[in-house]
Amino acid sequence: MEHGSPVSLPPALDLNNIPRHVACVMDGNGRWANQRGLPRTDGHAAGEAAIVDAVNGALALGVRYLTLFAFSTENWRRPADEVKFLMNFNENLLLRRRSEFSAQGVQMCFSGRRDWRVPRRVLRRMEETEQMTAANERLTLTLAFNYGGRAELTDALKAIVDAGIPSSKIDERLIARYLYHPEIPDPDLVVRTSGEQRISNFLLWEAAYAEYVFPEVLWPDFRQGDLFDAVVEFQQRQRRYGGL
Ligand code: IPE
Ligand code: IPE
Ligand code: MG
Repeated sequence: MEHGSPVSLPPALDLNNIPRHVACVMDGNGRWANQRGLPRTDGHAAGEAAIVDAVNGALALGVRYLTLFAFSTENWRRPADEVKFLMNFNENLLLRRRSEFSAQGVQMCFSGRRDWRVPRRVLRRMEETEQMTAANERLTLTLAFNYGGRAELTDALKAIVDAGIPSSKIDERLIARYLYHPEIPDPDLVVRTSGEQRISNFLLWEAAYAEYVFPEVLWPDFRQGDLFDAVVEFQQRQRRYGGL
């Protein structure tokens, strides 16, 4: 099926219990390419269709926040060629997709360290995109880029100390206010594709009570139907938050 086209919702899906915030670890691009005898970077390129589908699926469901893990603070360890490809690819993805996303009411923002390792033109593109889409309110799409949960907490602690806040004033609410996007609610559902069952430093603080779903599908093959299935699985969970 052509990606981005409407897909019927599974009958088991309850439209009155849609997660407000879905976060995805887009994993399995390299394996997808490997299986086809292609270079790993072709897998990243093929992941673009899945991103478009995830956005369209989130819009169809009425998910309010979608966060996609695009590049981690640990991904700098990859070969220089792959890192370079990912920087260019993510920049071009913005240029290719931001108008269509914006026309659909998608606000785009970025979460992660905006440090010297990220090429200046990519940073500029990110700022432009945030400004272009700032007024949209149907769906907030956050690309976690040069993002690490530990880096985020480290940055929050530094900012708290720099602000001269005494320890007596530090509580969970205050810490949450110093994270990269305090205005975005915690994820309800975290989906990690490719069958890997680990967090890999994603949203360590925010996902404290998220439900996790681990579909086997490799990210480039992820389609709206896979998102719907993950939401159905989410709806079968009983969230207890430590209570009964
Ligand atoms: C996820 O796919 C994309 C990024 C981490 C940027 P991978 O590149 O990790 O694919 P696998 O895990 O090697 O298959
Ligand atoms: C997590 O995937 C990061 C992104 C999807 C951007 P990785 O493929 O980098 O995670 P590990 O190395 O398998 O834990
Ligand atoms: Mg991986």
